Amino acid sequence: MSKMKVLVTGYNGQLGYDIVRELKHRNINCIGTTREDLDIVDKEKVTLYIKKTKPTHIIHCAAWTKVDKAEDESSLCRKINVNGTENIATMCDELNIPLIYFSTDYVFGGNGETPHKVDDKVNPLCVYAKTKYDGELIVSKLKKYFIIRISWVFGINGNNFVKTMIKLSQDKNELKIVDDQIGSPTYTYDLSKLVCDMIMTEKYGVYHATNEGFTSWANFAKEIFKKINKNIKVIGISTEEYNAKAKRPKNSRLDKSSLVNNGFKLLPSWQDALDRYLKELNIEV
Ligand SMILES: NC(=O)c1ccc[n+]([C@@H]2O[C@H](COP(=O)([O-])OP(=O)(O)OC[C@H]3O[C@@H](n4cnc5c(N)ncnc54)[C@H](OP(=O)(O)O)[C@@H]3O)[C@@H](O)[C@H]2O)c1
Repeated sequence: MSKMKVLVTGYNGQLGYDIVRELKHRNINCIGTTREDLDIVDKEKVTLYIKKTKPTHIIHCAAWTKVDKAEDESSLCRKINVNGTENIATMCDELNIPLIYFSTDYVFGGNGETPHKVDDKVNPLCVYAKTKYDGELIVSKLKKYFIIRISWVFGINGNNFVKTMIKLSQDKNELKIVDDQIGSPTYTYDLSKLVCDMIMTEKYGVYHATNEGFTSWANFAKEIFKKINKNIKVIGISTEEYNAKAKRPKNSRLDKSSLVNNGFKLLPSWQDALDRYLKELNIEV
């Protein structure tokens, strides 16, 4: 594997940052690119940059991820998530190299309580989810691809639910949090290890990858406050009461049997991941 050269987009996002860190840790040659280095929407620049750097793999983490804002800025979101992905995919096709693309639990409409299997029917409910699914359709035309659907991501480099809860705990005694959306929080550190294992193989296809266990946002918040010793009252509210701009699925449970069937290790539990994440943030647990 010494000839590997991995190009990672979205280096200053949560996942891209940790993936580059893990690649370096494994002594895998890599280039992490930010929007400044490589704006994925600029087709000509993407073409030239990839032809010049000649990667053996592209791990595509750059995306528009502001889910609610996408409802008002749908064309910009589409440009980044669909056209940007197409620009990258075209080059992967031309160089005949694998593309690793991240999608979301939000591609599912989210009825019932059964975890979604990789080939379950999708029903994206909001602009962001539709663009991520359209990205999947582009990537799935390639010969060599991994589509990895992930959910409720937290990592050291960027904003996320855990950091928001820690911030809010500094001046609130009680918080209203959605308790009828069920899914799995996912630590980018754990995901990065899996992604680095995956690129060593040719086990292409669609995967679901999250930390183990299911919870609601309200219960996730309770666990955060418990671990950081903050006495905050969490009041569970419904999705309808919270009334976010973008519609989200209530059932975000993902079935991870595609990982197991292909010989990959399941990630640790989300509670274990949260412990390690708080330590990474230098918070005693
Ligand atoms: N976060 C979640 O909960 C979650 C859940 C499911 C799936 N995902 C997917 O997982 C992947 C990684 O997510 P993440 O949480 O790491 O996202 P993130 O922290 O928001 O990072 C995304 C990065 O993409 C960059 N970017 C945006 N537009 C760009 C452009 N035109 N050219 C180049 N770079 C651009 C952003 O740069 P700027 O900082 O300059 O804008 C940002 O650094 C994404 O595909 C996302 O859709 C995330």
